[in-house]
Amino acid sequence: MTEPRPAYDIDAWRRNIPILATHIPMNNCSQAPQTDRTRAAAERYLESWNTSGMDWDAWMAEVALAKAEFAKLIGATADDIAVFSSVSEAASAVASAMRFDGARTKVVVSEAEFPTVAHVWLAQRTHGAALSWAPVRDGQIHPAVYDTLVDERTVLVSACHAYYMNGFVQDVACIAQHARSVGALSFVDAYQSLGTVPLDVRSTPVDFLSSGNLKFLMGVPGIAFLYVRPEIVASLEPAVTGWFGRANPFAFDSKMLDWSPTASRFDTGTPPVINAYIARAGMEIINEVGPADIRAWLEVLGRRLIDGGLSRGLALHGTHDMKHKTATTAFVVEDSHHVEHAMRERGIIASARGSVIRLAPHFYNTLDDVDTALDALGSTVQ
Ligand SMILES: Cc1ncc(COP(=O)(O)O)c(C=O)c1O
Repeated sequence: MTEPRPAYDIDAWRRNIPILATHIPMNNCSQAPQTDRTRAAAERYLESWNTSGMDWDAWMAEVALAKAEFAKLIGATADDIAVFSSVSEAASAVASAMRFDGARTKVVVSEAEFPTVAHVWLAQRTHGAALSWAPVRDGQIHPAVYDTLVDERTVLVSACHAYYMNGFVQDVACIAQHARSVGALSFVDAYQSLGTVPLDVRSTPVDFLSSGNLKFLMGVPGIAFLYVRPEIVASLEPAVTGWFGRANPFAFDSKMLDWSPTASRFDTGTPPVINAYIARAGMEIINEVGPADIRAWLEVLGRRLIDGGLSRGLALHGTHDMKHKTATTAFVVEDSHHVEHAMRERGIIASARGSVIRLAPHFYNTLDDVDTALDALGSTVQ
């Protein structure tokens, strides 16, 4: 039987990722590898800085293009996107636009949130927020818990698209729909899924969606984007703000808080320009390969990881069902940092998180990569 292959030319893409000559990167849930294109983008900025000294018009145009590329990933427009340096900052800005008094004080937070997002909501308790937790059981969250937790007293529900520990995917369309039906807002952290699980904000009624770029979007640390549903933008005045959030940042009027009519009212200070160059190049790759084709290939690799892990006697963390997970697959191990180190010595980059070791392939990984990584993991934990 012939092995399955992705719908795109995987060999051509692999030729653009130099580290594949020496390593098998399976740590995309943590940091994607460098590509020729992302490197060239960084060099373009350095060249511009070096040769023109300063070119703010071109640099701001690049930030706008990066917003547009992020928008394309989720079916939005550049006007619906704000830029930050981290998801923590984006979530803090969203929180600063909420009120936690009156009839609505509740924030429903999934226990699968990356801690930074949960911390932002915990910090809102000083402003009157009362947190309710959607519990993780066996590495998953039962969707029905949101029906009971999210009610007319809820300000906002914070539900990640995919769980950072094991790739478990939540039905954010359903959660956001329920939130909306009771007059609550929804915030989705899509950092662990974006680019690998198609998500379109035109058919998914989320109000806020955020992701950084260093994982499956093939970028670097120091930049993140926030989608804000255009219908609610005008009603939001984030207290985390700055001059780039103004309708006219160049009015230089210290006494006027003129809110931008678009999601850029969530922008704060001078954006991370060099990171925007790299982020755009990384997102272009994902948009070019295509999230639907990436998802199809990652279902194959994810299935191989689950079946191959189980057949080698490894203990899977979370669901066995690829319909409810990304390809990120976590195995419970005694000392995850030791395992990560031992695998790296064999040229395989895995990612330790607490009690698990995560293998997170991406569009450029092959079935051979998966088998080699599983063999190495199997022999390391024996
Ligand atoms: C799902 C998720 N959200 C957020 C973060 C961190 O966000 P930031 O460091 O950009 O605030 C991570 C990991 O780095 C993550 O996996």
